[in-house]
Order: sequence, then structure tokens, then C-alpha cells
Amino acid sequence: MTDELKLVLVDKEQNRFRVAREAFVRPDVLGAEYERIFDKCWLYVAHESEFRKAGDFVARTIARRNLLVTKDTTGELRAFFNTCPHRGATVCRESAGNSKNFQCFYHGWVFGCDGRLKSQPGKESYGEHFNDHGEGNLVPVPRFASYAGFCFVSYDRDIVSLEEYLAGAKEYLDLVANYSESGMSISSGKQEYAIRANWKLLVENSIDGYHAVSTHASYLDYLKNTNGSLSSVKLEGKSRDLGNGHAVLEYRAPWGRPIASWIPLWGEQGKAEIEQIYNRLVERHGKGMAERMAHSNRNMLIYPNLVINDIMAITVRTFHPVAPDYMLVNGWSLAPNEESEWARKYRLSNFLEFLGPGGFATPDDVEALESCQNGFSNYKAVPYSDISKGMGNPAPNYDDELQMRAFWTRWNEQITGGAPEPAVRGVPSPASRAAA
Ligand code: FES
Ligand code: FE
Repeated sequence: MTDELKLVLVDKEQNRFRVAREAFVRPDVLGAEYERIFDKCWLYVAHESEFRKAGDFVARTIARRNLLVTKDTTGELRAFFNTCPHRGATVCRESAGNSKNFQCFYHGWVFGCDGRLKSQPGKESYGEHFNDHGEGNLVPVPRFASYAGFCFVSYDRDIVSLEEYLAGAKEYLDLVANYSESGMSISSGKQEYAIRANWKLLVENSIDGYHAVSTHASYLDYLKNTNGSLSSVKLEGKSRDLGNGHAVLEYRAPWGRPIASWIPLWGEQGKAEIEQIYNRLVERHGKGMAERMAHSNRNMLIYPNLVINDIMAITVRTFHPVAPDYMLVNGWSLAPNEESEWARKYRLSNFLEFLGPGGFATPDDVEALESCQNGFSNYKAVPYSDISKGMGNPAPNYDDELQMRAFWTRWNEQITGGAPEPAVRGVPSPASRAAA
């Protein structure tokens, strides 16, 4: 077909990788993403540490569906659609808490934290066998599983196991889980904000080493001026395609890490504490792994919309599109349970200082993403974005764009159904539109 839109163009001979900007602006592309990506992947929903006691729950919107995740009285985690089987009302209207029962506010049906219907006002008006087959219970999400403490749901009953889906990302989730001797936990308080940009711009940005020096110049200057002996702000490292659309960049950077990279700003007391943490890592994991855990940073994408930024703090971040040019973002801080008050103070301060919505990084990133989205208003005249950096490089650097190509390649497979000549049928190509 001559009027097909090729959303991802790959020229291996010329090392060119381009993405059509229509992919960021068209409502029908977003519709296809919901159907072919968000309904067909494993999606992060919560962390196991958010459920300590029976009855602990969180209510979250994951890819347009309201979900309720609970810990039942046997200690099992469960995920339900947060809609009343009676006539549809949202059953749990709080975002988190503890409750053994959930009463629908509309007509008063009550469900246990295992999802079972426990009572109905006017029960005698219903048939005796009304709930014999569980039609009155909360409906479970088709698939729910966790790996290394990270809980995921899938709306696709037939999806591969979570472990198979995570592919090479498992090694990095294990690495994060292994920081702690007593488990990792989400700290209380979360970051919640919106960006007037397409969700895939935040995918790109979250694993983009290339922008750090220019976009975050003010933070790097701040580090230089507060770190005492810091004379260089050099970043260096590599990026890896982890399979199934997941990718990571791993690099050295000049900031301090409560696990376990000291900076002069933290003084002698901090130095002693960091040394202790480091020595414990060596005891448990050996020198090589301890060195990597302590001194390397990792920004990882778990396809399609989970980012784990293991940098000066560990941020777990998800984002969901609401419109082609609008997304909602949530960020949580993850930390070792046994961390001292001193280290926790620096971790939380880093979580806000660099990564917070009012910090050094996020406002600059948001500005960049919204600026790109504005730029896409010219998509007919300037139809493609270029994502070729480092394409011919056999050992891609942290600031190459291999990570983004890993995402876009999987995205394209899912959107096009794996067509060898990726194209969306019946959609005029950017070139033909530009010529029109
Ligand atoms: Fe929930 Fe009627 S809609 S009890
Ligand atoms: Fe950034």
C-alpha cells in the first residue's frame, strides 16, 4: 500500500533509526497502544512491602482500569477490578489503608479482602443460590505475579509468565532486592504529577544518558560546588538491551549513594557509615558485585512503563497516558529496611532534590518533554525524530540511544503485530501528508 504510515524506520546500512512523530500525537495510535500494548503486557502495580498486615490495600489506576490490591487474611496478595459486581460503583475509594471489609457506598454490598461477597442489604430479595458461583464477588485481574518484591498485573490471561517476560531485567531487579539484608521497602509518601506530553517521551527520557550534561547542567554545577573535592562531573558507562523492550544504562556518576558511595559533603561520620555498608555488601555478595552495587548507577526501563532509577536514591516510577499529549506520573522511593536514620535522611533528600517534581531534574525534564510535544505540532513538515546515536557501536555507551531503540523495536512489533515491513495500514504516511 502506498498510503501506509511507517512509524519506525530502520536503516541498518546507514545506521539510521527514526520514529514518526505521528506516534506521539494521534489518538488512534494511543487507542492501538491500549489495545495492543497495555492490554498485552505485564504492568507494575505495587511493591510487596506496601502490604504488611492482613487487610492492607492500595487502589490504583493501571492502564485506565481501577484496581484494588489487597493482602487477605491468609497473607495472600490479590488484585481485583475495583468495580462493584452489582451495578458498577467504585468499591474502594481510598488510595491506601487497612480494612478487612470493603463496603460499596452505592447500595451497601460488602466484600472481604479476599474479594468474596460477605453481605448485601435486602439479601432476602435475591435467590437463595445467588452467589453460589461467585458472580457476586469482586472480579480478580486475570494475571497477578511478583518478582523480587515488584508486583505486576496483566489483563492478558494468556501472557507468558512474569519471569519469562522480564527476561534480562531480572538480574537488575535482583540486584536492587539484594541491597538489603532484611528486605527493601517503599518509603511513605509518593510523588504524583502530570506532564503535558506523550508517555513515550518519558520512556525515552528516563533511559536517556545523552541529555544529562545539558539538561541537568545546574545540578551538576551544584554537585561541583557542594561536594568539596569533586573536580570533575564526568559520567561514563554502558547501555544494554535486556530483551522484550526492557533496557538499562549503567554508569559512574559524581553524586553520593547511600548504598554505598561516599561524597565529601557527608563528612567523616558519613564516611564511616558508608564503609560499614560497603563492607557488608562485600561480605554478602563478594567484591565485584559490591563494587558494582555501591558505585554504579542504573536507569532501567521495564517495558512498557516502569522505570527504576537506581541513582542517588532508588525511584520506582510509572506513568500512564490519559491522552496523546498528557500523562500521569507516580514515583516512590525504595530503601533497605535496615538503613540508619542518617542514610535515610540523605536518601530522602536525594529523592526530592534531584528527582522530585520540584527538584533539580524533574522540572527540567518536564520542560524538555513538553517542548518536544509542542514541537510535534509540526509533524507534517518535520515527520521523524532521530534515535540513531551509537547505532553502529558494538559496545554502546550510556549516552547512546540503544535503550530507546530497544523500546521502540518492541513497541513497533506490538503495534504492527510483528509485521516484517512495519506499517500501520490505511494511515497516510508522513511523507505523503507533507507532500499533500
Ligand atoms: Fe455496589 Fe450497588 S453498585 S452495591
Ligand atoms: Fe533527566
